[in-house]
Amino acid sequence: MNAMETIAKRCSCRAYRPEQITPEELKQLLQAANAAPVGMAKYETLKISVVQSRELLAEIDQEGAKFFGDPSMHPLYGAPTLIVISGFAADSDEREVSMCNASCLIENMHLLATELGLGSVYIRGCINAIRENRALCEKLGVPEDFVLTGAIAVGYPCEEPETRELVTEKIETVIL
Ligand SMILES: Cc1cc2nc3c(=O)[nH]c(=O)nc-3n(C[C@H](O)[C@H](O)[C@H](O)COP(=O)(O)O)c2cc1C
Repeated sequence: MNAMETIAKRCSCRAYRPEQITPEELKQLLQAANAAPVGMAKYETLKISVVQSRELLAEIDQEGAKFFGDPSMHPLYGAPTLIVISGFAADSDEREVSMCNASCLIENMHLLATELGLGSVYIRGCINAIRENRALCEKLGVPEDFVLTGAIAVGYPCEEPETRELVTEKIETVIL
């Protein structure tokens, strides 16, 4: 796939098969994250936590469901891997940069996942749900002065994604 084909095929996947992704697929996703643009190249202000433990995934999923007020929902959609990004957040500016950095890492992984035939979805709701849960943040290895900034759920999709028609009208644009 070329870049435009991958972009056209990328979509949010919300139904996963239970099998775990391979170590090689995970390695490539992490390579994609490490190749993302990062503000002032301050890589030390970011941390990646890969969650593949079924127990920990279930705990995060349940916290998310509670947060959304619907214990029957599964905001991680049964994905077998959750890649969580946290970032340095000493002040509001650092926090803002960390959020931007996380989005860059996540989008790089989202596109690479598409290229590899994996399903993936950006996860923010569930991350908001556990941001203040220090015990859970500690389990994820998040340093005290870091904040959870976002995540991507990854796994084999239940359905093959369709290629979308690429348009320019969805987002209002001005050309000056
Ligand atoms: C900042 C951000 C946060 C998001 N958070 C969630 C989330 O918590 N759960 C979810 O299912 N999708 C989440 N999404 C995915 C969007 O809902 C999705 O990208 C959008 O509906 C467009 O659909 P598409 O990705 O299939 O093109 C998030 C996307 C972004 C960029």
